[in-house]
Amino acid sequence: MRDFDEHNITDAVVASLGEAKDARLKTVMTSLIRHLHDFVRDVDLSFDEWNSAIDFLTRTGQMCSDKRQEFILLSDTLGVSMLVDAINHRMPKGATETTVLGPFYVASAPDEPPGADISRGLKGEPLLVQGTVSSSDGTPLAGATIDVWQADADGYYDVQRPEPQSSLLRARFRTDAGGRFSFKSIMPAFYPIPDDGPVGEMLGALGRHPNRPAHIHFMIAADGYETLITHIFNAESPYLDSDAVFGVKSSLAATFVEVTGHGSGRLLNHHFGLKPLSRTAL
Ligand code: BEZ
Ligand code: FE
Repeated sequence: MRDFDEHNITDAVVASLGEAKDARLKTVMTSLIRHLHDFVRDVDLSFDEWNSAIDFLTRTGQMCSDKRQEFILLSDTLGVSMLVDAINHRMPKGATETTVLGPFYVASAPDEPPGADISRGLKGEPLLVQGTVSSSDGTPLAGATIDVWQADADGYYDVQRPEPQSSLLRARFRTDAGGRFSFKSIMPAFYPIPDDGPVGEMLGALGRHPNRPAHIHFMIAADGYETLITHIFNAESPYLDSDAVFGVKSSLAATFVEVTGHGSGRLLNHHFGLKPLSRTAL
């Protein structure tokens, strides 16, 4: 193997995988190498561009910590996260569509009773969320767990606050015998994804904004069903048609209805359908 040029190097690199034991790894890497080489040829990549790409990826890695995952943010903003989500969540009729998890999920959110106020006194327009959870065939699911998390009226999640903060605007609920749940909160605002790192720099260079339309995150789990990771977007929010991470689906945009009179605020009523786990042959 020698004398490689721009025409024959791709086949040589692919051939070098001949002894790979894991067949799936071989398939994935063969495709990756072919696409990567085609991309380099397609744009006639210069050394300066290649160096700045290496520098960008290096800085992306250096930005990562146990609190910040800049590579996932890169995947999100390039639409890769939503593409993987789409391929892996082809939903049956009656099942709620999925969207990105995002970096602000916390596994240990406190369990709260039905109707609890997750705003814990934070300022904002009052919101009552009422929902139901069923199987995609319409059977109500009792005892499903519902993790919810959202930004505040200024667009910040609790984990972004400078001072250490116990859970704010996040909690875990359970559905009752009829598959119902409810909680009180405040209206979430739209917000920018973390844009003080290489991904923010990339968005700026590409003339893109970093904003996401206002939404509430839901992670709903029940025995025998695929865990649903989704959001409900405020159908009145800016950026619904230019979400920085391409996460909006029309079926997930809902009206947060204005209620007036005593205790005025907004009401979100939403139904969630879960997809049964597929039985795999033993
Ligand atoms: C979020 O909705 O919390 C989010 C999703 C992707 C990237 C950044 C934030
Ligand atoms: Fe979010």
